[in-house]
Amino acid sequence: MLANTTCHPVGLKIKKAKGCKLIDDSGKEYLDFIAGVSVNNLGHSVPEINDAIIKQLENHAHVMVYGEYQQESVTRFCDTLSSLLPNALNTVYPLNSGTEAIEAALKIAKRHTGRSKIISFTGAYHGNTHGSMSVSSNEYKKTAFRPLLPGVEFLEWNSIDAVEAIDTDTACVILETIQGDAGVRIPSSAFMTALREQCNACSSLLILDEIQCGYGRSGQFSAFSQFEITPDILCLGKALGGGLPIGAVVSSKEILDCIQSKPELGHITTFGGNPVVCAAANAGLLKYKLLERSLEVEEKGQLIENLLSEHAKVTSFRRTGLMIGINLETANQVSELIQKCRERGVLLFWFLSVPNGFRISPPLVISKEEIKEGCAIILNALNELQ
Ligand SMILES: Cc1ncc(COP(=O)(O)O)c(C=O)c1O
Repeated sequence: MLANTTCHPVGLKIKKAKGCKLIDDSGKEYLDFIAGVSVNNLGHSVPEINDAIIKQLENHAHVMVYGEYQQESVTRFCDTLSSLLPNALNTVYPLNSGTEAIEAALKIAKRHTGRSKIISFTGAYHGNTHGSMSVSSNEYKKTAFRPLLPGVEFLEWNSIDAVEAIDTDTACVILETIQGDAGVRIPSSAFMTALREQCNACSSLLILDEIQCGYGRSGQFSAFSQFEITPDILCLGKALGGGLPIGAVVSSKEILDCIQSKPELGHITTFGGNPVVCAAANAGLLKYKLLERSLEVEEKGQLIENLLSEHAKVTSFRRTGLMIGINLETANQVSELIQKCRERGVLLFWFLSVPNGFRISPPLVISKEEIKEGCAIILNALNELQ
């Protein structure tokens, strides 16, 4: 029997998914406005990704733990990913999930700097294993699992004054470039520059978590591009696998080489860099590169903003590209809206830490017609809220 993580799971029985549509076991179609929470950025059942998976399976699936053998699909994926990133991020360590990328990044920062203090921010969400939960900020979600990692300090998100707490004891500063679970919170350029400068001054590593906001969702492949800074370590996941489970730590060769010694095999994984996953991920990245200019992420996001943000029931609207957080007056209104929209064929979803907010993060390939169709259903449902 399957374990549940909530007493009230959505429970849709999905039989098929194609493009921006999910189809349930009764044949009912749903317009996907959440993309599996920022995973299916290229839509569902992408032919190039499916072909790459089949082709790789015909050659081989798992043959060895990570790092020992040379596997073509893995190196090809790393090269394609590097080609989309600045030169300083030329080395890729593929893992199995977002939270694993965070775990690895924190360990690498400690090993590289020889320090243990970690700085994170209010509103942060970095995953659910012990290390990533330790650098996440939702106190209610953490309490039952204490003690967590020692030496983690939380600073006020987007506060330039707070940046001074980064000092020469600090191994790393970790943040989402755009906070996702906090309801889509976008930092100021001045804050991001101050962070970069203080990390440089203290030789602390700047880790950006783009597991949710990366892969084109902000309108550019990397959300950090808009702030004109480059992190020392970039964590990716979610959309990167083209629908298969993945995480990745991306950094310079110099930084990533530190896990080769003292101790040797300082961070290891059996399935990280799985050849089938990497084949899917590489096919997805190649397709992204082809489509990048025609995706019109900003235009589509603006269209959603124009259609929904002025509604009387909307108390706050936050957006970067196609990553959108919308608040209503109450959590009950949000639940009612999500349910009504689902019944009428549009999928929306909650945030963990914003009870009166909901997210819209459709596949980036969604058409403007699909956006208008979905938003019309959302507007009708908003009109009916008490
Ligand atoms: C910003 C961010 N970091 C890390 C994670 C953890 O990724 P995963 O669920 O793949 O472990 C998530 C997942 O939602 C996320 O949104």
